[in-house]
Amino acid sequence: YKVCACKKDMTGMKVLVTAGPTQEALDPVRYLTNHSSGKMGYNIAKICMLRGADVTLVSGKTALAAPMFVRTIPVTSAKDMFDAVTSHAPEMDLIIKAAAVADYRPSHIADEKVKKSDAELAIPLERTDDILKYLGEHKRPGQFLCGFSMETENMLENSQKKLQKKNLDMIVANNLKMAGAGFETDTNIVTFITPDTVTELPIMGKDQVAFRLIDKILELKTF
Ligand code: CTP
Ligand code: CA
Repeated sequence: YKVCACKKDMTGMKVLVTAGPTQEALDPVRYLTNHSSGKMGYNIAKICMLRGADVTLVSGKTALAAPMFVRTIPVTSAKDMFDAVTSHAPEMDLIIKAAAVADYRPSHIADEKVKKSDAELAIPLERTDDILKYLGEHKRPGQFLCGFSMETENMLENSQKKLQKKNLDMIVANNLKMAGAGFETDTNIVTFITPDTVTELPIMGKDQVAFRLIDKILELKTF
């Protein structure tokens, strides 16, 4: 009889994971968002917990139940996520940013519901803060920073640029146009990119992607 249990090779590690979409309010009843389901980030949080880590999950609004034995901090907007992530980041050994953060938000949030008219409506948008870029600029020695990259074309080149620009140790790239990859599926097709390696993985469940991602990070880094 062999014991069936998850290896505890993250014991004592402090991990911060972000997941899900952000919502950017337009008025009291409407917001801008994206198709992120949160499944990738929630799977990563769960796998880190099973492997013995102390896990904090900063999550945008999703339909998923908060994972057990994980400190879950719910947020709504990119600004909320920035505040939650940057306040917890300094003590973390590993930060994995799987959230789909809005790049823009309405420049102004109307106090009252916007009423329709017959004219065309244009909504001015302003940039949100790039949370991952901020973390890269404030990375402390020994801290490992992993981002995600969602592309529909030139996946490798664009993702390598993000890795460099944001001062990351790894980026997990996926091409939204491949069947079985991306937002709403239970599977993903990812490529792990580091400053000097590119590792393509076959299609697999998001729980397995999470497991392989942690294997790769632990292999690269001795915490
Ligand atoms: N990200 C972030 N804060 C933002 C935007 C993105 O922290 N305001 C993070 C995401 O969580 C992800 C990584 O940056 O880990 C890459 O996100 P992605 O949208 O693929 O790339 P961008 O740098 O936003 O560039 P673009 O959307 O133009 O491709
Ligand atoms: Ca973006």
